[in-house]
Amino acid sequence: MTLVGKTQASEIAVHWREEEYVHPPAHFVAQAHLADPAVADRFREENFPECFREYADLLTWDQYWHTTLDTSHPPFWKWFVGGRLNACYNCVDRHLARDKNKAAFIFVPEAETEPIHTLTYQELYVRVNETAAVLRDFCGLKAGDRVTIHMPMILELPIAMLACARLGIVHSVVFGGFSGEAAGLRAADSGSRVMIYADAYHRNGKLIDHKASADIAVRTSAAEGQPIEKVLVWRRRDGEDLSNTPMVPGRDFYMEELLKSYRRARVAPVSLEAEHPLFLMYTSGTTGKPKGCQHRTGGYLAYVAGTARYYQDIHPEDVYWCMADIGWITGHSYIVYGPLALGATNVLYEGVPNYPDAGRPWRIAEQLDVNIFHTSPTAIRMLRKSGPDEPQKYRYRFKHMTTVGEPIEPETWRWYHDVVGKREAVIVDTWWQTETGGFLITTRPALDAMKAGSAGPPALGIFPVIYDEDGKEIPGGTGRAGNICIRNPWPGIMQTVWKDDDRFVRQYYSKYCKDPKSRDWRDWPYFAADGAVLAPDGYYRILGRVDDVINVAGHRLGTKEIESACLTVPQVAEAAVVPVVDEIKGRMPAIYVSLKPGVTDAKGAAEHVVAAVETMIGKIARPKSVHIVPDLPKTRSGKIMRRILAAISNRMDTGDVTTLANPEIVEQIRRQVQGEGPVELQEGPEDVRRFGEQE
Ligand code: PRX
Repeated sequence: MTLVGKTQASEIAVHWREEEYVHPPAHFVAQAHLADPAVADRFREENFPECFREYADLLTWDQYWHTTLDTSHPPFWKWFVGGRLNACYNCVDRHLARDKNKAAFIFVPEAETEPIHTLTYQELYVRVNETAAVLRDFCGLKAGDRVTIHMPMILELPIAMLACARLGIVHSVVFGGFSGEAAGLRAADSGSRVMIYADAYHRNGKLIDHKASADIAVRTSAAEGQPIEKVLVWRRRDGEDLSNTPMVPGRDFYMEELLKSYRRARVAPVSLEAEHPLFLMYTSGTTGKPKGCQHRTGGYLAYVAGTARYYQDIHPEDVYWCMADIGWITGHSYIVYGPLALGATNVLYEGVPNYPDAGRPWRIAEQLDVNIFHTSPTAIRMLRKSGPDEPQKYRYRFKHMTTVGEPIEPETWRWYHDVVGKREAVIVDTWWQTETGGFLITTRPALDAMKAGSAGPPALGIFPVIYDEDGKEIPGGTGRAGNICIRNPWPGIMQTVWKDDDRFVRQYYSKYCKDPKSRDWRDWPYFAADGAVLAPDGYYRILGRVDDVINVAGHRLGTKEIESACLTVPQVAEAAVVPVVDEIKGRMPAIYVSLKPGVTDAKGAAEHVVAAVETMIGKIARPKSVHIVPDLPKTRSGKIMRRILAAISNRMDTGDVTTLANPEIVEQIRRQVQGEGPVELQEGPEDVRRFGEQE
C-alpha cells in the first residue's frame, strides 16, 4: 500500500526507559525445575532439533519416533515422525497408577454460595471414557472427524475435549462468549456434524441461556452448507432445566440422558501418529474469515508439557490456577494439555475475576492454597482499578505468576509483582500466539532476572530475529522496532491452516522466505505479525500487532470480521474499524461508518451497528465508539485509509493527506471525533502507528 506521509516502520525509533532487573526470590530458585544453567547448552542452535527430545521424553509414547524433525516439505514441518501416542492417555490414564485420587480439577462456580467441586484423576478418567463412548457409539464419530465444542468454563468442557482426543476426533473449541453465528461459521468451516453445548452458565451474576446459541449456530452452519446432525447438551445443574430454549427432537440430546446407557463404559485410547491433528483453534487473521489453526498431537503435547514444566514450574504438589478461558489457546495449552500432561492439580473457575468483588481471586487462592497463578494484563488492570488493596487482605502465597496476551506496562507489572505477588513470586511475561502452541519468549523463572514490561529472552530452542520491511536484520541495542520472526521450526508450531495450505504459507512464511525451493529450515523464518524491539541485553519487548488484528483485553479480533458485521446493517454503505487505546482493555474497536443515501437516522443506525457486531461476533467485540461520518477517507484508487482513522481516534498526527481522493473529509471527521478545540497530539503506541500497514 502507499504510505501517506508516514515513515517506514523499520525507521521508527522506539523510546522507553529501561527498567531495573528484578531477581527471582531465593526460595523459588531453590525448588525450581529449571535451575541448571547448562540447559542453555543443551538447547543451543547446534543441538537443534534434537534438543526437543527432552520435551518429547516427558510423554508416554506407544511407539518411539525415528526422526525428530522432517523438513522435506517446507514449511510443513513434521515432528517426531514414526512416533505414536494418545494425548488423552498422556493427560489422564498414565497418572492413575500413582495419582488416581489426586485432584485433577477443582471447579469453582461463579456463585460463592454454590459448593466447590473436586474431580480426581480417577473421576476424570471415568467421565472421559463415558463421554468418549457417547461420541463413538451414539454419534458414530471416529479418528479424523471434527466436533465443534461451544461451551463455557465448566468441567464438561475439558472432559469433552479429552474424550475427543481419546478417539483422535479433532476438536474445535469456540470461546463460550462468541455468538451462535460465530460458532456456526466455525463449525461449518471445520466440517463438524456434531456440536457440543451447555444449557446455561453463570457470568457476572447472571444466568446465561447458552442453549439459545446452539439453535443459531445450527442454522448458520446449515446455511453455509454444513448440516449439524446432533447437538449434545450438558446441563449446568444435573436434572434442572436452566434454559428456556426447547430441545429439538431427534437433533438435541441431553448428555445426562445419553450417558445412562454408557455407565462404566471403557474406550481404549486410539494410538495415533504424532502428526495426527489434535485440534483446530480458529483465530482472526488479515482477511475477514477466521482461520482454523491446526495443531498436531505429538509435537504440540511435547511442547506444552515441556514449557509448562520449565516456565510455569509445575510440581506435583502445586495448586495451579490459570484464569484464562479454555476457549482460547492459553486455556488449551496451559489449563488442559500442558498441566494435565504433567499430572497437575488445576483450578477451573467459571466466572469473571471481579465477581462479586475484586477480592474474589484472592479468596479463591487463599481457600485452595493456589501457589501458581496465570492471568492477563487486562485482568490485572481491572483488579487493580477496582481493588488495589484487596490482595493483602488474604493469606495466599504465590511462588509463580504468569502474564500473557498483551504487552504489560511497567506500572501494572509492578502492582502484580509487589501487591499480588507480595514480592515473593517470580513473574514470567510469556509472548506467544494461537499459531505457536506454546511460549516463545519468556524468562526462565529461576535463571533469568525479570524486567518489567519486557517479555525477556527467547524460550529454549527458539531462535528469533527482528527484520525490517526489506528483510534486513535489525540488531539488538539499536532502539529500532521491526517485525519479530522465528528462524527455526519448533514442535508447538501449528501444522497448517485447516483446508488452506496456501493461506498458511502466504500468511506466515512468504514475507521473509529466502528461497521458496529450499528444503533448509534456515530459509523459512516464521513471520509472527508482531512488532518488537531487542534491547542490548537480549531481552525482547513486544509492541503489539502490525496487521489489522486488534488485541481487545488479550483477545484477538479481526477488524475485517467486525467490518463485515457492520455491513450486514442495511443502512450502512461503508465501514472501517480501527483500534483505539483503552486504559483497561489495552485496545478496543472504534467503528466508522457512512450511511446509504437517504438514511437520516444516524443514532438508530449506530445502535443497529452495535447490535450487529454483538450478534455476529459476540459482546467482546463491542466497540468503544461508533462514528457515523459523511464519507471515509480514501486513496484515489478507492482504498479506505484506516490508518488515518486510527490516528484520529487516538489523537495522533494524521500525516500528509493531500494525496487522498477526498482530503477535506479528514478534518471534518477529526472535528466530529475530537471536537472543535485544539488537541494535544500523542505519539501513539507502535501497533496503532503501524495499523493497516500489511494490507
Ligand atoms: O500481539 C501478540 C499478543 O497476542 C497475540 C496473540 O494472540 P492470540 O493468538 O490470541 O494468543 C494469545 C495468548 C498467547 C500476539 O500476536 N501477545 C501475546 N502474548 C503477549 C502479547 N503481547 C505482548 N506480550 C505478551 N506476553
